Amino acid sequence: MASSLPVKRFLVTGGAGYIGSHLVALLAGRGDAVVVLDNLSTGHRAAVPDGVRLVVADLADQAAVDALLAEGNWDAVFHFAGLIEVGASMREPFRYLLDNGALGMRLIAACVRHGVRRFVLSSTAAVFGSGLNTSIAPNASVAPNASSATIAPITEDAPIDPGSPYGESKHMLERTLYWAGRIHGLRSGVLRYFNAAGADPAGRLGEDHDPETHLIPLAIDAVLGRRPPLRVFGTDYPTPDGTCVRDYVHVADLAEAHLLALDQLDPNRDPNRADGGSVTWNLGTETGHSVLEVLAAVARVAGRPVPHELAPRRPGDPPVLVASARRIRAEAGWQPRHAALDDIVRTAFAWRAAHPNGYGD
Ligand SMILES: NC(=O)c1ccc[n+]([C@@H]2O[C@H](COP(=O)([O-])OP(=O)(O)OC[C@H]3O[C@@H](n4cnc5c(N)ncnc54)[C@H](O)[C@@H]3O)[C@@H](O)[C@H]2O)c1
Repeated sequence: MASSLPVKRFLVTGGAGYIGSHLVALLAGRGDAVVVLDNLSTGHRAAVPDGVRLVVADLADQAAVDALLAEGNWDAVFHFAGLIEVGASMREPFRYLLDNGALGMRLIAACVRHGVRRFVLSSTAAVFGSGLNTSIAPNASVAPNASSATIAPITEDAPIDPGSPYGESKHMLERTLYWAGRIHGLRSGVLRYFNAAGADPAGRLGEDHDPETHLIPLAIDAVLGRRPPLRVFGTDYPTPDGTCVRDYVHVADLAEAHLLALDQLDPNRDPNRADGGSVTWNLGTETGHSVLEVLAAVARVAGRPVPHELAPRRPGDPPVLVASARRIRAEAGWQPRHAALDDIVRTAFAWRAAHPNGYGD
């Protein structure tokens, strides 16, 4: 029997990219109408499911953005589009500040102009100061079988001090949303992802960046012999095994968190909330895994060791970055379903092994 509930309508910028495509699949799968705006600079047409309209346009094309928003009846806009490499932003600061910062601000302004009520931003752990949880705290609980540790996790209230133009560009958008909310009543969800990883458990979608800079796909390609041995940068950090520790969060769990944000931002929900109805959440599993621990997980899943070599530290890599997800748990009951590192690696491995050329475009 057909549902009598009205179909919801969402605009997803960057929906042909890695994380955005997982949300698009989730929304489309529950029957929502989804439109993707993407310039396909790093995204893939094949990552957009059949039945989802793809508008190939750049955020810089204000006429295209306005025309799309003017279609109206948007239940929310999810903004994933942007440049994502911290290292590249240190070489090309203005590209990041303009493409991510300025174009994102223009998008937010256009959303306000066109009466959009809810906006969800893909933000990042890179907004925080690099001096945070830079080493394992004395009371860290270290798993008996590995270097896993629950370490002084970063809460939403930790000092903001971006260590790169990339992080700064996201902070600019967080502040823009604050003012859009305060003055125009736009409800926003600022979702600060830690290290997104893994792939669609159903095998439809995965991570296909070029160049790839993320550890798990690089380690998988190394174990599959598709690239030279992986370089492990820094083995003398103040961590249990000397390598950097990060919080890997499954991309499907990130997608679910967007639905929770949407629910919290419902304009009919608690209209008098002190925060104006907006939320800011850190998204991670609250568990840190060292580089060597990730390589061990990839080796377990692949059934053979990951070829790698040890290299000196890279400038700018904080030793430890682990999220506190207490706020989203308390406010929305988020519970990552794929928190185990081996689960994350297994889904990433399955997709990469099945798609040697990624999406093939
Ligand atoms: N991958 C991570 O670990 C991570 C961590 C924290 C935050 N984020 C944020 O999440 C978002 C998505 O990341 P991802 O890993 O899926 O990246 P991605 O590169 O796979 O996706 C970005 C998408 O945006 C599109 N795009 C880029 N610039 C555009 C423009 N000017 N106009 C229109 N489309 C444009 C690209 O074609 C691509 O499809 C980004 O905003 C990123 O900063 C990612």
